[in-house]
Amino acid sequence: MGTDVSENQKREAAAAALAEVKPGMRLGLGTGSTARYLVDLLGIKVAAGFEVVCVPTSEATAAQARALRIPLTDLEATPHLDLTIDGADEIGPGLALIKGGGGALLREKIVAAASDRLIVIADQSKLVDALGRFPLPVEVNAFGLGATRRALETVLAGEQAEGGLTLRVASEGEPFVTDGGHYVLDALFGRISAPKALSSALLEIPGVVQHGLFLDLCDRAYVAGPDGVRTYDA
Ligand code: A5P
Repeated sequence: MGTDVSENQKREAAAAALAEVKPGMRLGLGTGSTARYLVDLLGIKVAAGFEVVCVPTSEATAAQARALRIPLTDLEATPHLDLTIDGADEIGPGLALIKGGGGALLREKIVAAASDRLIVIADQSKLVDALGRFPLPVEVNAFGLGATRRALETVLAGEQAEGGLTLRVASEGEPFVTDGGHYVLDALFGRISAPKALSSALLEIPGVVQHGLFLDLCDRAYVAGPDGVRTYDA
């Protein structure tokens, strides 16, 4: 849980983005503490009769939305969405993002790519001049973990990464398992100078399922600070 100030800012950013949700929209719902405010606020509108149909990006968001009686669908029944609103761990130049701090990166990226527009919501602590200070989540298949880790270490060395790779663990000390049944290796680069090249290099490793670099996906960011909410367009 962040400070009261950052929690208020997350809520303000969520409220600004909610104004973009029009009746009848097919909407992707993000994951994390900021997206949680968006879902709460949407639930209030739905209770008052607002019509929308949503695809959640995680089991946690699905549970929250169900409790609020927000109508849900999936990408089988509704493969094309109008808009997704989600949080981010870092927002860099050109609205390049790091996501996946909550471990939902694979579903988040699938849902974002199925949407006409992706809007991210954040407090201003997420704005960065260059991506990479936040460890990049890499979702990997459990099979071959050692070999995948070794291949990823080669990529990190090539990028002159500041830190190493950490297998994400759940609170019980066991590996954290994503909704898709995979593990997450968090890769600390420090500074990612060529995000597109890095994305390609990571996706060439067979055991890598997906990574948390969201490039050319985000259209708009609502970022809340002490002076209100700023809008950034790609
Ligand atoms: C979930 O996997 C993430 O991509 C979140 O969207 C991201 O970590 C932002 O979360 P917070 O809003 O909790 O900072």
